Amino acid sequence: MLNELEKILNNFKTKVSEVKTLIELDSLKVEFTGKKGLITDVLKKLKDLTPDERGKVGQAANKIKNEILEKLSDVKQGIEEAELNEKIANEWIDVTLNKSESKIGALHPVSRIQYEIEDIFTSMGFEILDGPHCETDYYNFEALNIPQDHPARDMQDTFYFENGAILRTHTSAIQVRGMKKLKPPFRVIGPGKVFRVERTDASHEAAFHQLEGMVVGEDITVAQLINTMKTLLSEIFKKDVDVRLRPGFFPFVEPGFELDISCLICGSKGCSVCGQTGWVELMPCGMVHPNVLKAGNIDTEKYSGFAFGLGLDRLVMMKYQIEDIRHLHSGDLRFTGQFA
Ligand code: FA5
Repeated sequence: MLNELEKILNNFKTKVSEVKTLIELDSLKVEFTGKKGLITDVLKKLKDLTPDERGKVGQAANKIKNEILEKLSDVKQGIEEAELNEKIANEWIDVTLNKSESKIGALHPVSRIQYEIEDIFTSMGFEILDGPHCETDYYNFEALNIPQDHPARDMQDTFYFENGAILRTHTSAIQVRGMKKLKPPFRVIGPGKVFRVERTDASHEAAFHQLEGMVVGEDITVAQLINTMKTLLSEIFKKDVDVRLRPGFFPFVEPGFELDISCLICGSKGCSVCGQTGWVELMPCGMVHPNVLKAGNIDTEKYSGFAFGLGLDRLVMMKYQIEDIRHLHSGDLRFTGQFA
């Protein structure tokens, strides 16, 4: 039996050296010293021994049990210390840190304006739609009445993938997705990032943001379109801003308009943002071309619609008088931090 006790001790030493957690340690304690543990098993057999052997084995069993309990307690202390040190290393708080020095994240001004506009439109009963950045030629051009080889494609050159997919050049692709998904009458907006091959300057970026709007129903008129544009601008600027509407050509609207805003950066005197004209192209719009409605499986005898495509970056520039669009995409916290 002394041999058996020796084996139990060796077995314990091997197992305890592999223990990593307090839970593992507890189960080891139960296995060796618990009521049904290995040492207890030996003690239960003492009654079958001679008085002389009983004394020796009993003493040895108690000694080993104490050795095991002592080791368990040492290991427990070690694990607790290691856990505490790990907590201290990972969860420290610098109580000396000045709160004003800590950087708190905030929304980018383009996101901020986008959410503001979403609120304005949802309050007018519009639904918000999304679409993929990587589009098919069909959704970005074909369904919008811009067939292959149409010269309008030159105005929106983009990045092509080998499989023919493209980075969408405008949020108008979301119009098509909206028409395929919804039954008229409907009102939707679709904000998002768009991409073009552009030579960048103070008002042009290669990746920028637009917000598309589309209303389809019976007897939709240009007057409703203009009223919607006016409501949007007065909600955003909270003051009267000069705008002008002039004819504009986009194959997916007929008639089409360009809505320009008087340049709030130079007070219409002429600067690099407005190209010295005093006006900034902001939000082209128009009545949806019947070919586009047909591509969306909409009955053109019954329904008509209007659509617009707002340049979000330019709107932010006008609202906050930012003199170069490239600031918005610079990732410079000294710039974006001003809007926190
Ligand atoms: C379009 O993209 C049309 N899809 C808009 C439209 C929708 C017309 C529905 C009619 C009906 P345009 O290419 O003009 O149109 O772009 C729309 C707006 O996006 C511009 O007025 C301008 O505010 C902004 N924009 C255009 N190109 C850039 C650019 N490179 N960088 C920053 N903003 C731009």
